Amino acid sequence: MLAVDVVTIFPEMVRAAVSDGIVQRAIEKELVRVDVHDLRDYSNDRHRSVDDAPFGGGPGMVMKAEPFLRAVEALLPAGRGPRDAVVLLSPRGRVFRQNVAEEFAGLDRLVLLCGRYEGIDERVRTALDADEVSVGDFVLTGGEVAALCVIEATLRLLPGALGDNDSALQDSFVDGLLDFPHFTRPALLRGMAVPDVLLSGDHGRVRRWRRKASLAATRQRRPDLLAQAQLGPEDQALLCEIKAEQPSAPALSHTQLTTQRPATRASRDAAEPHAAAFCGAPGPQRR
Ligand SMILES: C[S@@+](CC[C@H](N)C(=O)[O-])C[C@H]1O[C@@H](n2cnc3c(N)ncnc32)[C@H](O)[C@@H]1O
Repeated sequence: MLAVDVVTIFPEMVRAAVSDGIVQRAIEKELVRVDVHDLRDYSNDRHRSVDDAPFGGGPGMVMKAEPFLRAVEALLPAGRGPRDAVVLLSPRGRVFRQNVAEEFAGLDRLVLLCGRYEGIDERVRTALDADEVSVGDFVLTGGEVAALCVIEATLRLLPGALGDNDSALQDSFVDGLLDFPHFTRPALLRGMAVPDVLLSGDHGRVRRWRRKASLAATRQRRPDLLAQAQLGPEDQALLCEIKAEQPSAPALSHTQLTTQRPATRASRDAAEPHAAAFCGAPGPQRR
């Protein structure tokens, strides 16, 4: 069983979030234990203070090192084992991606330290040799939401956590590509029809359509992923078809444009020299 400990000054916020949905189900199935600890319980002054002014001056407050160090010492009295991780949530950390979730899903113990204010005294990271992890290139107010991202992405990889274990295998990023689009009833909605192939009952054609849609979406939206993906001969052939059908990936719809950044020609070209060679197409166009 994976044991997760969250250290925070907002324990109720984290408890509320883990008391429902997939995390709660995983707890009930005893796939995971999640304990939330109030950092103030590890403060050594009578005001239970956990922050102080920054050395060197400047705005805001810094979270003190001692309460975090005492909390981790209490949680791991024998020290950190080889299958334990102490994770410090921080925008300065390595980026939390699917491969990191897979790494964490293989551990016995995950201790998550949540910062607030200007961040945590750097000596916490040094003393604990903590794994500093960021959930993306943006700044949250506190580490709690980041810790919940880590917990949820990790837990859903534990065998038995999802209703159908296979569903995690076809998710975005698992094989380096974005997921294919999904549809459900009705087959015709406000003039928008579901692709015929999905209604055909032909599993081979459905599988091929989905793989092609996955490659096309990745090519258009995340050429950086496509450039690194392990592609087999069928994928290469599908990419050739996609390139022939959409020599430069089409403009995104209004909704897409408001929610994501389209790939630039340069980023697509960088992702596709192998596809161009395989398809026998001329090399990437230069501006
Ligand atoms: C306002 S932030 C501090 C930001 C810090 N001064 C910086 O610019 O790197 C307060 C806390 O939120 C958490 N946090 C904010 N953004 C995060 C991110 N992208 N990933 C993980 N944790 C984050 C961290 O625990 C951090 O200590």
